[in-house]
Amino acid sequence: MLARCVFVCLFVAVLGCRSNSHEKPGKTNGSPKTVSSEDPITMTPSGTIRGSWMRTRRGRQFQAYRGIRYAEPPVGELRFQPPKPILQYQGVVDASKEGPACPLPAPPTYYVDEDCLTINVYTPNNNSTKPLPVIFFIHAGGFYSMTGRSDLAGPHYLLDRDVVLVTINYRLATLGFLSTGDALAPGNNGMKDQVVALRWVQKNIRAFGGDPGLITITGCSAGSISVMLHMVSPMSKGLFHRGISMSASPTGKESSRYDMYDLAVKQAEILNCPSNSSAAIISCLRTKSFKELGDSLPKFFDQFGFDPVGLWMPVVEREFGQERFLVKDPAESIKAGEMYAVPHMISQTTDEFFWKAFPVLKNQTLLDTMNNEWERVAPISFQMSPNISSENKLKLRQAYFGDKTLANDDVSTKALGRLYGDSIIGFPVHVMANLMCRHSPQKVFYYEFAHVGNHSHYEAPTTKKPVGAAHHDDLIYLFTLSYRFPTIEVSDTLDSKLVDKMTAIWYNFAKYGDPNPVNASQPELSNLRWPPMTSDVRQYLRIGGDFSVHEKMFENRFKVWEEIYPQDY
Ligand SMILES: *[C@@H]1O[C@H](CO)[C@@H](O)[C@H](O)[C@H]1NC(C)=O
Ligand SMILES: *[C@@H]1O[C@H](CO)[C@@H](O)[C@H](O)[C@H]1NC(C)=O
Ligand SMILES: *[C@@H]1O[C@H](CO)[C@@H](O)[C@H](O)[C@H]1NC(C)=O
Ligand SMILES: *[C@@H]1O[C@H](CO)[C@@H](O)[C@H](O)[C@H]1NC(C)=O
Ligand SMILES: *[C@@H]1O[C@H](CO)[C@@H](O)[C@H](O)[C@H]1NC(C)=O
Ligand SMILES: *[C@@H]1O[C@H](CO)[C@@H](O)[C@H](O)[C@H]1NC(C)=O
Ligand SMILES: *[C@@H]1O[C@H](CO)[C@@H](O)[C@H](O)[C@H]1NC(C)=O
Repeated sequence: MLARCVFVCLFVAVLGCRSNSHEKPGKTNGSPKTVSSEDPITMTPSGTIRGSWMRTRRGRQFQAYRGIRYAEPPVGELRFQPPKPILQYQGVVDASKEGPACPLPAPPTYYVDEDCLTINVYTPNNNSTKPLPVIFFIHAGGFYSMTGRSDLAGPHYLLDRDVVLVTINYRLATLGFLSTGDALAPGNNGMKDQVVALRWVQKNIRAFGGDPGLITITGCSAGSISVMLHMVSPMSKGLFHRGISMSASPTGKESSRYDMYDLAVKQAEILNCPSNSSAAIISCLRTKSFKELGDSLPKFFDQFGFDPVGLWMPVVEREFGQERFLVKDPAESIKAGEMYAVPHMISQTTDEFFWKAFPVLKNQTLLDTMNNEWERVAPISFQMSPNISSENKLKLRQAYFGDKTLANDDVSTKALGRLYGDSIIGFPVHVMANLMCRHSPQKVFYYEFAHVGNHSHYEAPTTKKPVGAAHHDDLIYLFTLSYRFPTIEVSDTLDSKLVDKMTAIWYNFAKYGDPNPVNASQPELSNLRWPPMTSDVRQYLRIGGDFSVHEKMFENRFKVWEEIYPQDY
């Protein structure tokens, strides 16, 4: 029961818990009655777009353009195909209300549609003579869940800064990441969606007051992986100027795969399709409704509890004459300096996926299985190739648990939580930061997000209180997340101050490529002195109640991982 709740709460059912999905135009999120009744209109090179007004947490009025299609609806013949950009709109685009999420499991009232390739633009000003830095946010959710809609990526904090915020949807799960590794489905359509959205920004963002020469791509978790991949992708080159990767990385363990054939087969089996050739799989999956495809997600977690967290991933594409998003393993590209390097902010939270320990330790069946079948379960839960040696699997167990048998107690909770966090997020991010600070000619800023505030993506079931700095928690101070958390109102609380700090850091980084305060007019950052990470000193910033600078983030814990996966930084 708990396992289901933890899983469902993080990824799925929570969508629509406070469903405000079918809001009417004019009664948009955060917009008080007093604002202009005239909808804002922007004339872009692609056509005329009508938006709506919103208000930030500090009361600033800004323009919101939501649910603009940037590519043709990926339906019918276009399902499983690369995105087809929309270059010109016919008539005025109504972007005054929220668009849909891409197919995923959600409550019936939540707006989900396969016609979901939409972009949202939030701007304080469409006519500034000095264009503003643009923050382009790629949402989290493991490449199989969540959305860029304003209930999961709300603009009400960042728009207190002079930035233009862009959020997007991209196709998810099988609809976005089916890759059979042959010409029928070489993979990465969801990533190609992101590229088409970045191209849309290049063409149109100036009309919204944004600077096409100052784009910061940002993302958490799957979005963080995406940011790193754009830096090595031949398709994304030149479309952005800074990057922020929060809490995930495509580097560290095994090399990237060339296909996800196993997931294609599994999807086929879930929907009673033949699974004996990629042609058979794809032609059958074409006949299924998007709802059947979206709703099948929970059936993919059939190996051990709700593990592994990660399923679909971008792949290295073999050459079939298509435009390829990834041509080489990302770590190899970084080491060879084959990347479009930009100033890069990289982070992990203190506790990441620590809460994954609870459903295992509190379920006797899962607990016994993990203890008794460690060699089978460890690769699943900690996302490693099943063929890693027994010796390495035991070494990992020894490093985290010593000789202890796991039990439902505090020591095991801490140790297993650490192992989940380090394996899924911590070590891969560590490797990315260490590669980038050595091979990128641009500055790398590394941080640990340690603040435990009034809300967290994991709140204890009994007390409803946060118990750690969990995966995604830094997003709480950058975006309103009205699907789940109340807005952090302006006050003297630490949480409120942290909204000002985090948005100031993002603003400075987007504008200057450096998060440090530029002048005395930023009192919220007055005690911030954040040195870039270099290969010899490896300093990083801890963001807690206050700022502090440290060295060698969690390096002792990652030693065992570097023995299992030797790194040649
Ligand atoms: C414990 O886990 C097993 C295997 O995933 C599952 O079938 C069972 O329902 C779980 N028990 C409880 C009480 O959640
Ligand atoms: C900017 O927005 C205003 C207010 O909606 C609108 O009247 C004007 O046409 C817009 N300017 C451009 C260049 O689109
Ligand atoms: C641009 O904005 C300024 C101040 O916000 C306003 O005075 C001016 O009329 C606007 N110009 C246009 C063309 O919308
Ligand atoms: C796949 O299975 C179908 C029916 O089960 C069969 O007719 C067909 O020959 C098989 N194709 C391959 C490539 O094995
Ligand atoms: C384990 O599998 C990976 C790919 O899945 C392969 O690259 C590697 O060589 C294999 N290692 C061993 C020891 O078989
Ligand atoms: C949490 O909320 C309470 C009540 O508003 C407030 O007193 C407290 O300072 C908040 N805590 C943080 C860390 O902001
Ligand atoms: C210092 O801050 C003020 C107010 O935000 C701004 O007008 C000024 O341009 C800033 N100076 C520099 C060097 O950025």
